[in-house]
Amino acid sequence: MNVTVMGTGYVGLVTGATLSDSGHKVTCLDIIEEKVNELNQGKSPIFEPGLEELIKKGIQAKTLRGSTDIENCIRESDVTFICVGTPSNKNGSINLSYIKSASSSIGRALRVKEGEHTVIVKSTVVPLTTEETVLPTIIKKCGWKRERLGVGMNPEFLREGCAVNDAQKPDRIVIGFADELSKKIMNDLYAKHKCPKLECSPRTAELIKYASNSFLATKISFVNEIANMCNSWSIDFKEVSEGMGLDSRISPLFLRAGAGFGGSCFPKDVKALAAASRTSKVESKMLDAALEVNEAQPLIIVEMAKERLGVLKGKKITVLGLAFKPDTDDIRESRSEIVIKKLVDEGAIVTGHDPEAMTNFREIVDIEMAATSIEAIDEADCVILMTEWQEYINLDYKLIKEKMSGNVVIDGRRAFDYRQMEEEGFDYKAIGLG
Ligand code: UGA
Repeated sequence: MNVTVMGTGYVGLVTGATLSDSGHKVTCLDIIEEKVNELNQGKSPIFEPGLEELIKKGIQAKTLRGSTDIENCIRESDVTFICVGTPSNKNGSINLSYIKSASSSIGRALRVKEGEHTVIVKSTVVPLTTEETVLPTIIKKCGWKRERLGVGMNPEFLREGCAVNDAQKPDRIVIGFADELSKKIMNDLYAKHKCPKLECSPRTAELIKYASNSFLATKISFVNEIANMCNSWSIDFKEVSEGMGLDSRISPLFLRAGAGFGGSCFPKDVKALAAASRTSKVESKMLDAALEVNEAQPLIIVEMAKERLGVLKGKKITVLGLAFKPDTDDIRESRSEIVIKKLVDEGAIVTGHDPEAMTNFREIVDIEMAATSIEAIDEADCVILMTEWQEYINLDYKLIKEKMSGNVVIDGRRAFDYRQMEEEGFDYKAIGLG
């Protein structure tokens, strides 16, 4: 099938590269020429394990290319995926301006096309957007009879850091179809995937995406509250989560307590669903609470440092991990930003380190960065672990001890071996460890 993908962000690139790898002819569209050129040279504009290899393979096999020629590419293709961003407005609701302009561009391109075309929304959008915004905008611009146009909603469930694997081996594929044409096209596109495929309305597909992310985010905030209780009652939350996770109805996944959830999806999606439900006069106490807990968690980390160091003013504090999670350079909504800003406000001298995210982080907070984790630790009074990169977990505790001036370690992800930490003489504190 001839596929056009609008938007070469994270979702667009992974979607385009994996569809080209499963035999479709894919063009990834973007208005930024540099991004398109990079893509055509077989380079990935974003850091994501395995993505560059897949892009290179597609470019060499001529099943993948980048282009800025929106109108011609859409006309030459059978199906267009909308993968543009849906940023937050100030009140948390999603901003549909990119979705609207993508829909208008598609409509304009289709004016002079013959035959049929299918448009599939992959961007995360609140219920009714595909049916009430995307579909009418395209029809209005192209002037087609409804029968010639297929419209569907097919959410993504990719995790950064393992997005390629998630796209190639998904748990499920949600096929939100507004007509038989889009249902057939989505089933054909994913014919090679053997996972469960759920056929439903576009609005159901839209809510499945939000409900899934919001459920996982709420699960994290819930375990974070339980972990905070563990701190008061001298209970090890790791044992509690093990005991909970053995119940197959609960599952051991997403039970890791710590500094809270970040990234470009959970915080934005929970806020958007809460805002959308408010607009429809349904108050969501759960979603608001999940967000509230998540804002408080990073500050607990700062309090833990304060309790141990007395005042933070003038103290040398190293923050290990700036990305919102390991294996990505993405710093969006990273809990490290909240922790570091608070530490700086309190007068601490902060040094940061991250294996991949230092360049991005420099753009939002101006702090000292060290080239290596060991250099970052040098003469620190306190080390705070914020992102559980394997590199940090593997650090030699004896070497950390030698390098530091003090002995306080605050583990925001409960990733270090606490018994070994204590044996080495660290004053070790973690969320969920009383
Ligand atoms: C998330 C979802 O997991 C994907 O299914 C979804 O497709 C994606 O959002 C999206 O909407 O695009 P992602 O944001 O890449 O994926 O990252 P996760 O691995 O889900 O982690 C999100 C945050 O939760 C991270 O800050 C992580 O540290 C935190 N987390 C995760 C915890 O604090 N505890 C856990 O047990 C798991």
